[in-house]
Amino acid sequence: MTHRPQTGPIGVFDSGYGGLTILRDVRRLLPGYDYMYLGDNARAPYGTRSFDVVYRFTLEAVKYLFGQGCPLVILACNTASAKALRTIQQCDLEKLDPTRRVLGVIRPTVEALGTHTLNGHIGILGTPGTINSRSYDIEIAKLWPEFTASTHACPMWVPLVENGEASSPGADYFVRQETSALFRTDPDIDTVVLACTHYPLLLDKIRENVPKSAKILTQGEIVASSLFGYLDRHPEMESRLTRNATTQFLTSEHPDKFSAAATIFLGHDISASHVEY
Ligand code: DGL
Repeated sequence: MTHRPQTGPIGVFDSGYGGLTILRDVRRLLPGYDYMYLGDNARAPYGTRSFDVVYRFTLEAVKYLFGQGCPLVILACNTASAKALRTIQQCDLEKLDPTRRVLGVIRPTVEALGTHTLNGHIGILGTPGTINSRSYDIEIAKLWPEFTASTHACPMWVPLVENGEASSPGADYFVRQETSALFRTDPDIDTVVLACTHYPLLLDKIRENVPKSAKILTQGEIVASSLFGYLDRHPEMESRLTRNATTQFLTSEHPDKFSAAATIFLGHDISASHVEY
């Protein structure tokens, strides 16, 4: 079957609200394009789900966004990038539509490490799914074999953010617990990667709990500049992206709940629509 190249918005997918931290920076750097954000809030969090389930949910979302006309979809979710991206790129895309692309957040984040660390001691904080997949260890060993990477899973952080508890005393407790565990593994860490797109909502608390000398990397700007470079290198894809500077917000949960929470992430009001797929 031949596919006529379709034009449309850039799809941005996350299990819930976290991808909004990526969308915010992508829109800041590439404001002219149209975006379609999809949060699978009804089934979030993904971080504690099995490989097969995350793959299935992510593939469903990609198919939906392709069906809405997106030529390019960004998995703005580390868990989905870790557990589903490779299979989708290597097996599913060929059948779905080989002219479209699905990109993730792990590779660009690992590529950026070299410009941030001074001593090569890296700390990675992510969901159990991302950490157990060892995707970061594998990518770092490939790109920066001289670095020492320590990883630590934070199972409570996404539920805290998804439930609007990021500023609560409960969040203080869990942030202190996980950051101390990471630094007990390697006290020389000079760069901490927030390898989950929900974690920037906990940034102030994380900063209070890691040594002042450590740099904390969030992924929004990294993914935005990587996408900028990608579109520059791929004019055939860039020319398929529509440019009316619009953003549609879609959620598998109740749209009012999504709109209220998304306002906290983006700092301005938005209106979301419910979708089933
Ligand atoms: N924002 C997702 C990530 O970057 C959170 C995953 C989840 O739903 O647990 O991993």
